[in-house]
Amino acid sequence: RPADPSYVIDQMISAKAIAARVEALAREITQHFKGTDKLVVVGLLRGSFVFIADLVREIELPVEVDFLEASSYGDAMHSSREVRILKDLRGEIAGRDVLVVEDIVDTGFTLHHVIHLLKARGPRQLKVCALLDKPSRREAAVKADWTGFEIPDEFVVGYGIDFAQRNRNLPYIGKVRFTGPSA
Ligand code: PRP
Ligand code: MN
Ligand code: MG
Repeated sequence: RPADPSYVIDQMISAKAIAARVEALAREITQHFKGTDKLVVVGLLRGSFVFIADLVREIELPVEVDFLEASSYGDAMHSSREVRILKDLRGEIAGRDVLVVEDIVDTGFTLHHVIHLLKARGPRQLKVCALLDKPSRREAAVKADWTGFEIPDEFVVGYGIDFAQRNRNLPYIGKVRFTGPSA
């Protein structure tokens, strides 16, 4: 495959469907953490930035937003299986109620690594909300507590998710269809 193959993007989940699902997830999350003095919502950069922005605005609890950058793909299409922490949290999570927000769980290596890392810091509880889940691709044993949509094994972009750092700004989730000579 050439380094920059040509492709088109077919819409898979509309902005409207995402918004409805995000609202429902936030309602369940609000219910689950009801009574907390502060929920620490941790977004995994960069892919979760759109999802976390929409999700926290629907959560009706006192919230602190923090970010962690863990990268395994870089610009590649396949997981390196080696998760690197590029940027750590700013705040402490010991004794706190923590919600990790991820855009997509694919092989599961990223989430598995992050959960392990954060649990070692002694949060009161640590839950995970992922917008998308590709269960057919799982290699590391991990499952989100809340999932927006289960999807088939397609290369998806948009709503924060990139292909070689592009298409994160699409308002919907689309699937990449290769059209070049090597497709
Ligand atoms: C992507 C995606 C998830 C992870 C899922 O991140 O945003 O974080 O891969 O894949 P996995 O389950 O196989 O680990 P990426 O490493 O591309 O970084 P990004 O969020 O900055 O795009
Ligand atoms: Mn990511
Ligand atoms: Mg990526």
